[in-house]
Amino acid sequence: MDRRDFVKTLGTGALLWAVPGALSSTSSALSQDQIESRVKELLARMSLDEKIQQMSGEVLGNIVRMAEGYGKYDTVNTPANRRLGIPGIRFIDGPRGVNLKGSTCFPVSMARGATWDPNLETRVGEAMGYEARARGANFYGGVCINVVRHPSWGRSQETFGEDPYLIGRMGAGMLTGLQNHVMACAKHFAGNSIDKSRHFVNVRIAERTLREIYLPHFKTCVDAGVASVMSAYNNLNGYLCGHNPHLLREILKGDWGFQGFVISDFGLGVKDTVAAANAGLDIEMPSTMHYGKKLKQAVLDGKVPEPAIDEAVTRILRQKLRFSHLEDKGGYSLKKIAGPEHTALAREVAQKGMVLLKNEGLVLPLKREQIKTLAVLGELADTINIGDKGSSTVRPPYVITPLAGIQAKAGNGVKIVYDSGQNLGSAQAAAKEADAAIVVVGCTYQDEGEGYDRLRLSLSDHQEQLILAVAKSNPRGIVVVEGGGAIIMENWKDQVPAILMAWYPGMEGGAALAEILFGEVNPSGKLPLTFPRSPDQLPFFSNTAKEIEYGYYHGYRLADKKGFEPAFPFGFGLSYTQYQYSNLRLNQKEMRKSGTLEVKVDVTNVGQRAGEEVVQLYVGYPGSQVDRPVKELKAFGRLALEPGETKTLSLEVKAQDLAYYNVEKGAWEIEEIQYPLQVGSSSRARDLLTETFRVTGA
Ligand code: BGC
Repeated sequence: MDRRDFVKTLGTGALLWAVPGALSSTSSALSQDQIESRVKELLARMSLDEKIQQMSGEVLGNIVRMAEGYGKYDTVNTPANRRLGIPGIRFIDGPRGVNLKGSTCFPVSMARGATWDPNLETRVGEAMGYEARARGANFYGGVCINVVRHPSWGRSQETFGEDPYLIGRMGAGMLTGLQNHVMACAKHFAGNSIDKSRHFVNVRIAERTLREIYLPHFKTCVDAGVASVMSAYNNLNGYLCGHNPHLLREILKGDWGFQGFVISDFGLGVKDTVAAANAGLDIEMPSTMHYGKKLKQAVLDGKVPEPAIDEAVTRILRQKLRFSHLEDKGGYSLKKIAGPEHTALAREVAQKGMVLLKNEGLVLPLKREQIKTLAVLGELADTINIGDKGSSTVRPPYVITPLAGIQAKAGNGVKIVYDSGQNLGSAQAAAKEADAAIVVVGCTYQDEGEGYDRLRLSLSDHQEQLILAVAKSNPRGIVVVEGGGAIIMENWKDQVPAILMAWYPGMEGGAALAEILFGEVNPSGKLPLTFPRSPDQLPFFSNTAKEIEYGYYHGYRLADKKGFEPAFPFGFGLSYTQYQYSNLRLNQKEMRKSGTLEVKVDVTNVGQRAGEEVVQLYVGYPGSQVDRPVKELKAFGRLALEPGETKTLSLEVKAQDLAYYNVEKGAWEIEEIQYPLQVGSSSRARDLLTETFRVTGA
């Protein structure tokens, strides 16, 4: 079926993209100059009503679509302008795949953050963008890049971790792939790291903390060319994010020179016409509530200056024109949606994102010749568990559960005995009779998701009892943990020999898991967030308070500052092989403020298996004039190494990436001090290589 025909079958509103005319007629990308002159031309021909029509979602169509089951059948649209041939926006989510039925379900963003592989993420974005465009969407809302400051946050799974540098690199990777097909939207701008109170909480963030911890990843996505940014539901420093002139006008559009448009989060992202329009909120989604007629009246009353409307429409048209060559691009095949290429990619990502946290006595990988009976225990082993059921829901055609994956991979010589673990006695007996036991535990959408947060950071009592019961009866009790963030494991982690963090691993997750368990794939994921030992190691969290302060420190920065020993540090992850780091060298020991440091390190696979290693580079600021983290991630890279092979990895650190935000001066400042640098396999590797360098002169 042709793309247009398919879109027709989707019903209401989905045909809007097919409007013939100025914007949809280009066959190749327009130059910047062409875009700007066509924007001016169009704007001059538009009436105030037509301009304002560009600035909010459809009313009836979108209400019907969302009532049908959000994102199930159709995109959420803004109206097309038929007179001028300007297509509407056709929005679709989400972070782990396209919401529309039948799409590829990738591992959640947190699992992808654990790959530390922005190039792989570009391939994921490319696949999602393809699937979105093939079904008529032209706008993708899935680049969620909020910081996980506390693992209770219910939507942690939708973002890439705790660190702004890692999140920024992954977000930029994703949007680069997406934007080969659709406009991408980075969200939620900003400080949206609690869910239950998101519609009323006032998040207080000091200016320096905002600039250094909660915004850099948005800047990275802006620099990578993201077409749009979605404002967050929460208030930030007293203003709703969608009404926040400091965020939208001064920082995003001013300091960063963002050329795209801002959309509101859906429903309660705009609460006041004048405040939103004057602050620089360009599109109200999903439907016209405060814009439309109310916005026109505000313009007529002089409360919103007409140039503000022109500016918003300029931004919208600019991006529509930038992507206009894709409007009529043919060649999209529906067969590719959840087809072999994309599902293989989903599997590859799951393989690269799972993190081996513990492997004592090398109990993993399982050796088939030693195992006649394998017990697979726990309800989640036999449950489809791909993450939240809110706006990030994906409805893939199938999901390989852990049990199905293990059954398919085990081979004829291994008998699989499954027990749900509801009855601890029977699970323990099954574990006792088996040569090894795999216990699958973790969270589900009932524990964490959109609109609510995690009530407990450890597993349920029953799951912990199950693990302990298995540990007592089988020395090869391997724990596989599913979930979207950090889990506290202190009650049991010392009693079991092996722990594998599988996250919500997507539709191919069970297959990837089995490949890791049986050693066909060597695990290479690294934690994109700190796993604490206890809640004392975390910053304050409340999802009922009307106001909360996000301080400068969380995650590894907090652990370093306070001297905590986390359960598993940021960047940590084991492999079935071992790597040795050597020969750390810098191209200069002194660099200028405009300079770039080139760092090289040799990594050797000294074990017996091929593998991939994520190399991490951190920089500290001991001589700083201001309070700064002990160290911060500044570069990383992934290397594939055969046994015995050595490769050199080159990393770069720009002096400007070492700056702190000087609030008094309203400027970034690079200090002329000595900087220690460490390179290793995690933020707290034992065999770190270290060096120092200075920054001097402009
Ligand atoms: C979420 C956004 C999402 C939007 C539309 C909202 O509830 O907060 O992340 O993009 O719905 O799906």
